Amino acid sequence: MQTIIQRIDPEGNLKEQLKEAAAIIRRGGLVAFPTETVYGLGGDALNPNASAAIYAAKGRPSDNPLIVHIADTDALERIASGVPESAYRLAERFWPGPLTILLNKSGLIPKETTGGLATVGIRMPSHPVARTLIEVSGTYIAAPSANRSGRPSTTSAHHVIEDLNGRVDMILDGGHVPIGLESTILDLTTEVPLILRPGYIMIEELRKTIGPVEYDRAVTLHRKDDTIVAKAPGMKYRHYAPQGSLVIYEGEADKVVRAINEQARRCVESGEKVGILAADETADSYPYGTVRQIGPRSREEAIAAHLFDCLREFDDLGVTRIFSESFEDNPLGQAIMNRLLKAAGYQVVEIR
Ligand code: TXA
Ligand code: MG
Repeated sequence: MQTIIQRIDPEGNLKEQLKEAAAIIRRGGLVAFPTETVYGLGGDALNPNASAAIYAAKGRPSDNPLIVHIADTDALERIASGVPESAYRLAERFWPGPLTILLNKSGLIPKETTGGLATVGIRMPSHPVARTLIEVSGTYIAAPSANRSGRPSTTSAHHVIEDLNGRVDMILDGGHVPIGLESTILDLTTEVPLILRPGYIMIEELRKTIGPVEYDRAVTLHRKDDTIVAKAPGMKYRHYAPQGSLVIYEGEADKVVRAINEQARRCVESGEKVGILAADETADSYPYGTVRQIGPRSREEAIAAHLFDCLREFDDLGVTRIFSESFEDNPLGQAIMNRLLKAAGYQVVEIR
C-alpha cells in the first residue's frame, strides 16, 4: 500500500487541508493523525471493517478495545447508554482534553471496535487537527496510539512513518505532540470510578470534579504480579518496549549514578552498546555509553513529553542495554513510571 504523507500547515485552513483525509476515513481507510497526547491511528468507529484494518495495521490483538474519538458532547448519548451525570461533569471540566471515560456502549458501536466488550472508551481530543478531522469526516474516529503493537507510542510523524509506512492510507504530519503520554483512562462503569491508566489528568483533579476515584490495582503495581488482571485489556500486553533490555534504578541520586556507572562500564567493556536515560541534573555524571537527557526534574511535563522519543532513539542507535533513572518524585510521576515500568518489563534495581 502506498501511504500518502501530508504535512499540515497549522496556520492554514484545516478543513480544506483535511478533506482528503476525511474522505479516506469515510470510505473505511486508515489515517494517522496528531492528538495532544500521542499520534493516533484512525478509522471510522462505526465501520467494523475499519476497526479490523486498524488491528491488522498495528499487529494488535483484536481483543484490545479502541478508544472512540468525538468532537462534541452530544455524541455521548449516541455512543453510550445510561450515561451517568458524572460523565457530563467530567466532559464539561476536561474536554476537549487528555481524558478517556469508559461507559456502557450503545448498539451503534460495533463490537469489533470495542474488542468484543460491552463498554466503550470515549475521548474528545483538543488538538485542532484531530478535532477538525472528526468534524469533517462526519463520523466518530476509533484510534489507538499510532505505533506497531508493543513499541513505544509515537509523538511525532517520523516515528509514525517508521512504524506504519506502507500499512496505512495516510499519515498527517502535525509536528511533535504537546503532551507525549496517552490519555488518563477513567472507568465510570464501576461503583467507585477507577483509573485504568494514569495520565496528564491526575486523580486529585478527578476527585474534585466527581468525588471518590480510585486506581485500578494493576496501575499502582510497581512489580509484576501475574495474579492481578489489568482491566484495560491493553495493559496486559508487553508495552512501550525498546529493543534493548531496560532496567530502572531507584534510590538516592548519587547512589543511583554510581550503580548505573558500574553496570554501564561493565557492559561497555564486554562490547554491549549502552544507553543511559537521565534527568538533566545528573546527565553529566555518566561517562559510559550514550546518555539521553529526558528533561529537568523541575519540569515533569518535559520528562513526559520526551520519554517515548528517548526510548525510540536508543533503538535507532542500536542500543542493547539501557539503564534508567527513576522519575516518580513529581506529580506526573505516576503516569511516567507506569509507562517506564512496562517498557522495562518491571526490571527495577532498588539501591539502598
Ligand atoms: O491518548 C490516547 O488515549 C491515545 C490517543 C490516540 O487518543 N490513544 C491510545 O489508545 O492510547 P490505545 O489503544 O493505544 O490505548 C487505549 C487503552 C488500551 O490499553 C485499551 O485496552 C484500553 O485503553 N481501553 C480502550 N477501551 C476500553 C474498554 N472499553 N475497556 C477497558 N479498556 C479499554
Ligand atoms: Mg497504545
